[in-house]
This record gives sequence, structure tokens and C-alpha cells, in this order.
Amino acid sequence: MLKKILKIKQKKNTSKIICLTAYSKNIASIIDKHCDIVLVGDSLGSVLYDFSSTKKVTLNMMIDHSKSVRKGVKKSLMVVDMPHNTYRNSKEALKNAKKIISITKCDAVKLEGGKKVFQIIKNLTKKNIPVMGHLGLLPQSATSFKFKGKEINEKKIILRDSKLLEKAGVFSIVLECVESSLAKEITKNINIPTIGIGASANCDGQVLVTDDLIGLNKIRARFVKRYSNIEKQINDAVLKFKKDVVKIKFPTKKHSY
Ligand code: KIV
Repeated sequence: MLKKILKIKQKKNTSKIICLTAYSKNIASIIDKHCDIVLVGDSLGSVLYDFSSTKKVTLNMMIDHSKSVRKGVKKSLMVVDMPHNTYRNSKEALKNAKKIISITKCDAVKLEGGKKVFQIIKNLTKKNIPVMGHLGLLPQSATSFKFKGKEINEKKIILRDSKLLEKAGVFSIVLECVESSLAKEITKNINIPTIGIGASANCDGQVLVTDDLIGLNKIRARFVKRYSNIEKQINDAVLKFKKDVVKIKFPTKKHSY
């Protein structure tokens, strides 16, 4: 097993796992120093391309962004989302996972779903492809964006799926928008780390979309905490540049040849 993956697994019950998204080299190289996992999420579809859902994200988009991210990630485990319709059966999943890994040199791939993708994931892990699972709200197939696990039957299915994913060999599971007590139960009942987004502090780690955290993406979701307003800083810098150009204060001799 990849040393970095073993390290992530060993963090369970020891220290919190820090995971953030990156879609390009510059952001990746900043967050890499502080993260355990850098995720090239297919959230890039809505965050960067204004798609109404992640369903429109293609394999080539994921590969291109991941190639850029790879240049910025030196220390963290780099995980890439397999986009919608790229893992409909074991053969397709294997072909596309191999393609993602060989071109981008990422460490692992992430797939959404439970029982439905059990055999597909099992086949990937059997072929030594490290896989991260994703349960709860599944943006690639969701029809509504409500949190999961309030209703007893839904709760049972997600708990069952978490055990199935562990059996299939995933090294960790993202829990998205999962009710707090269910997140706690899952985290207690499986031996691999859970990484929450909108799934309470009861998980072994947390993931956020970096653009949301730094205030570059205008999402209003209960689970997002904005730690910075980078939009204001960019705006201020651009205004200063504009003013300097208009007043012929930039470029000076120092910036000229
Ligand atoms: O696509 C993504 O960024 C994700 C995270 C929100 C977990 O899957």
C-alpha cells in the first residue's frame, strides 16, 4: 500500500484529516503545505464553469485540471474525482481510472455511491487502484440537495453502504451532507477514516471546497465557513493597478527595459 495512504488510514482515532480541493497549480501549492489530502473535485464544474450540476464534467476536464494540480502538490495525497458516466461498469471504471492515474500521476481516485458501485470499486482495489468513497449527498446523481440520514430507512442504507465500501477496499469515505448522529455512527462502525463536508465534527477529517473557504465562490451553504475574502483583496489590487496605469505611475523605469 502507498505510504501516503497508510498514513491517512493511521490518522483514524489519532488526529484530524485535513482535505481541500484544488483545480490548479497555484492554489494546490499553497494548500499542499497544510493538507493531508488535496482533492481535484468535480465541483470544478459548478465552481469554475458555472455548470448547473457536476454531470456535465468530462474526463478530459478532470485530467487537464489534475495535470496542473499535480505540479503544485508535493506532500499531500492527491485524489481525483472520476466524473459522471466514467464508471458505469467495471471495465469502463478500470480503463478510465488507469487513464486518470497514468496521465495525471495522482495517487487515488474518488467514486460516488454505495451498493451500486460495490463491485466496480472492488475490481479497482483488486487491481491496486487506491479508491476513496463518497456517500450521503451524491452530486453526480442527486435530484435534490437535501441533507441525508434523517429518515430511518435512508440512515440504514447509508450505514450499510459505508460498511460495503470498507469491504470493497476504499481507504476512506467522504460523507457529504450527512446528519450528525449518522456520521458519528458510521465513523464508529468502520475502521477507515470518514471525511465530512456538512457532516458534523463527528468525522475523522473535514473537506471543503477551497474557493468557498477563501471567499472566491459565492455559495451560500450551511456547511461552508468563509475564512477569507480573497475577492476583496483581488478587487483592491486590480483597482490599484488600474489607478497607477491611468496616472502613469506604472510601469516606472524600474519595470521597464
Ligand atoms: O467535488 C468535490 O469537490 C467533492 C467534495 C465536495 C468532497 O467531491
